[in-house]
Amino acid sequence: MEYPYAQETQSEPLMMKAAHVLLFLFLSALSVRAQTTFSDVHPVFVTRCYSCHTLGGYGGLAIGDSNINLAYSDSQLPSYYSPGQTKGYASLIRILDGTMPLVGGCTGDPTVDAGNPACATAEEISLLQSWITDGQLGPTPSTGISFCDGDGSGTGCPCNNSGISYSGCAHSASELGARLQASGTASLTSDTLLLKGSRLPNTSAVFVQGTQQANGGLGTVFGDGLLCVGGSLVRLGTRIPSGGIATYPQPGEASVSLKGLVPSAGTVRHYQVLFRNPGSYCVPATSSGSNGIRITWTL
Ligand code: HEC
Repeated sequence: MEYPYAQETQSEPLMMKAAHVLLFLFLSALSVRAQTTFSDVHPVFVTRCYSCHTLGGYGGLAIGDSNINLAYSDSQLPSYYSPGQTKGYASLIRILDGTMPLVGGCTGDPTVDAGNPACATAEEISLLQSWITDGQLGPTPSTGISFCDGDGSGTGCPCNNSGISYSGCAHSASELGARLQASGTASLTSDTLLLKGSRLPNTSAVFVQGTQQANGGLGTVFGDGLLCVGGSLVRLGTRIPSGGIATYPQPGEASVSLKGLVPSAGTVRHYQVLFRNPGSYCVPATSSGSNGIRITWTL
């Protein structure tokens, strides 16, 4: 007589178990790594392809233009080189088959090409592969303007250890260099500005704010990398990065404008992540930095 009831109570936990297993698989798939967006790969195209692929560039492709929206929309046009695919997809194919970049003698094999400044590195190629695998996602919103990049456009990196565009100099944990990105609203009345450092060594990092740019925005040599901020400095927060990532502020911390004592609307401030670059890399000093970000605060 009790059988139907027993069956019912038994089937419910089973269903829940299955749901939990599915949820677990879903969450663990998500936690493997963050999705790679065009914001992540754009610096690779700017660094390697800029000379020929800006607005009106060869092959109808502006993938290396500093205007990220233009670069992305061109990456989504149909390719003639890889029919049925986008030009963004064809870009990876042509890097790997050694036909792009056109000049520089790259083979597409990063171990053979190592040390040739024209060629994409292994870390860059794997970033492009992730972007393709994740579905060629568009750029994520960003705030402020990058300056003092360790890509050779400003002061050179101390050991010729250039990173890619919108990043610092190469360091022991990343040949691309550490990157600072800002998102949210730099508003004094509703400050949601979020600073995110990525490709950091998981040792020690500090977010700093400066009233000025070092060396007029070109940066000055600082350990293994460049110092981008100058003037009166505020240390916003120190971090032990995890998976190379650190952010400011974290929940419960003062907003950037409060901690940085930004006085009024129209004020310009400059931000950078400085960090320890463990092990002997480049010079004996173990310090290095990301690119800088210039922010104009509004009301
Ligand atoms: C020195 C100049 C030069 C550089 C640097 C260069 N390209 Fe090109 N690219 C060209 C020329 C010229 C064409 C058109 C002829 C051709 O397709 O071979 C072209 C065409 C292309 C196409 C074909 C577009 C299509 O519709 O299929 C892709 C993709 C491409 N380039 C990707 C890249 C990428 C990615 C880089 C950087 C890693 C790069 N190129 C760097 C000169 C260059």
